[in-house]
Amino acid sequence: MNAAIRAVVRCAVSRGSTVVGIERGYDGLIADQVVPLDPRAVGNILHVGGTFLKSSRSAEMRTPEGQAKAVEVLKRNGIEGLAVIGGDGSFRGAAVIGKLSGIPCVGIPATIDNDVYGTDETIGFDTTVNTAVSAIDKIRDTALSHERVFFVEVMGRNRGFIALQVGICAGAGIILVPEIPLDRAEICRRLKSFGERGKATSIIVAAEGIGNTMELASSCEESTGFEVRYSKLGYIQRGGSPTARSRMLADIFGSEAVELLLTGNRDKMVGLQEGRLVATSFDEAVSRNKPLDMGLYRLAEDLAV
Ligand code: F6P
Repeated sequence: MNAAIRAVVRCAVSRGSTVVGIERGYDGLIADQVVPLDPRAVGNILHVGGTFLKSSRSAEMRTPEGQAKAVEVLKRNGIEGLAVIGGDGSFRGAAVIGKLSGIPCVGIPATIDNDVYGTDETIGFDTTVNTAVSAIDKIRDTALSHERVFFVEVMGRNRGFIALQVGICAGAGIILVPEIPLDRAEICRRLKSFGERGKATSIIVAAEGIGNTMELASSCEESTGFEVRYSKLGYIQRGGSPTARSRMLADIFGSEAVELLLTGNRDKMVGLQEGRLVATSFDEAVSRNKPLDMGLYRLAEDLAV
């Protein structure tokens, strides 16, 4: 997100605009935490994870009172265009602000979950995938030495995009995602069949959205006879220096968001589809479900043979 803020500020200033930042997301907007941002204010943040402006999951922005305050603050500060960086909750807020205030708003998709319709990839996703893959590479060392089965839980609140990509890149035997439920009996059957085919160790990557993976792991230990361990990667997936790919995406999206605002667009989210820049309306982006790539899911199964 730091890289995206930097891109918005520098591209807007390059085009003759003045930029301010809003601290602490919608909570900070409602509280009038508006700070000037010039190109130097966003120096030396490109390689740093998170957001120096800070962020919030704002309960107040979901209320009519909070929304009215947000609009009032934007108007009082003379803001003529708003770039909102985040996921579908952020875009729902931006759509409301756009409607109530008439101020043009554009969205920049940034969530590790990659669960935003209208773009093949969101800022942060690639960084998270790389973090999780290198953590699992380390887990594999001990899995191999001790001939254990590991259930590794990765983030992804409701969706399996992280699990699918991490699972493929980390060589998982089974990938568990909310979109394609596999019951316990089937998981145990596959584990036993791996054993019969000479695999003394397996990694199972599970999205947090599938439910209680710790319980699943221990019940699979009872019925397969394998020594099973559970490991939740947790919040290490949400920090760290962004990969080159995440930085490129932040630069491209930040620059395009400025372009959209300066050319009279509003209520749209920037995105990349099959390598091309596209804009999707907020209404469409928040109401449609991005499909999981079934071709990749089948590839993962073929690779686990
Ligand atoms: O949306 C990103 C995400 O990291 C999800 O993968 C996870 O379920 C959630 O945020 C965690 O939310 P919080 O930071 O509020 O605990």
